[in-house]
Amino acid sequence: MAQVKRLGVLTGGGDAPGLNAVIRAVVKTAWNSGIECVGLEDSFDGLIDPARSRVLTPRDVTGILRLGGTILGTVNRGNPFAYPVATSQGPVDYSDRVVENFEKMGLRALIVIGGDGTLAIAHQFGARGVPIVGVPKTIDNDIVGTTNCFGFDTAVAFATDAIDRLHTTAEAHHRIMVVEVMGRYAGWIALYAGVAGGADAILIPEIPFDLSIVAARLSEREKWGARFSIVVVAEGAFPKGGKQSLVEAADGGRAERLGGIGALVSEALGKETGKETRSVVLGHLQRGGAPTSFDRILATRFGGKAVELVRRGEFGTMVAFAPPDIVARRLEDVVGKMRTVPMDFDVLVTAKALGVTFGD
Ligand code: F6P
Repeated sequence: MAQVKRLGVLTGGGDAPGLNAVIRAVVKTAWNSGIECVGLEDSFDGLIDPARSRVLTPRDVTGILRLGGTILGTVNRGNPFAYPVATSQGPVDYSDRVVENFEKMGLRALIVIGGDGTLAIAHQFGARGVPIVGVPKTIDNDIVGTTNCFGFDTAVAFATDAIDRLHTTAEAHHRIMVVEVMGRYAGWIALYAGVAGGADAILIPEIPFDLSIVAARLSEREKWGARFSIVVVAEGAFPKGGKQSLVEAADGGRAERLGGIGALVSEALGKETGKETRSVVLGHLQRGGAPTSFDRILATRFGGKAVELVRRGEFGTMVAFAPPDIVARRLEDVVGKMRTVPMDFDVLVTAKALGVTFGD
């Protein structure tokens, strides 16, 4: 097996704190092993148009460990197999061009840092002969095969801090405060931030909720003197027999956009309990800012492991966290699936035992 001398690296999908930490680890580790790194801009766009790529040296990545965002840019609607260009025939298939450019640019491996959508595209290129190593990224933490994606811990820390702040104002005004957090199909952020922040109700997509159960639990608190409550709602949570709160349908390779469930829950709880309620949406604040030390370390380990897999020629793989180790998973075993909160997961069970309601 010929030693890889040049690799490409890209970031795709929604950003997550720690992307730059992965890029830095990839570039520095590769450099120290005699491998040149080419940074591809805006996900696969850098392979559709090679002018949108640049060689990255350790100088280019110095100081980015602590920065949110990604120095390479990212897009969440740039699938080269169905690129959203306005033509009478619909989207254009640029996949041949990507494979050709990959060869022309002298690349021998591609490190793809992305969520499930981006990793699924990478896997398709793997089937076309492009040697792929994936790095899982999403604040939602819903990628199969890894207990953690970097970005999740940072999002949870931010949401927990927000809940702490809401606690004092909720208590002062004897209100119910409803906090909407991200989590389209999995409630990891809501569960972790809810438990860490001491929420009284946590609503997640895995458990369709009954608002009268939530209202009854919050009203019960009044009886022993707690005149305020905190409710954490994942953007993808929905009532029993109801639907998710859609902002925009999926379009051109972009996933559907959810939001607004926090405001609906807040209004309904106000009516059911007779209490004053307020709601707040944390939104993209959860994706911004500096990664926590946990995410920096995880991202650095992921980047280092990805280069190790390239050097070993172990392609068609994704790096993953299986505490305490960083391991390799087969891409075909992880893409197209969703890691949701299991009903017997001990954080969930413990929260329920403490009296937190999930509306079920
Ligand atoms: O997948 C991560 C995520 O943060 C989701 O929780 C959220 O629905 C989505 O990204 C929003 O992404 P954007 O607004 O960038 O399309």
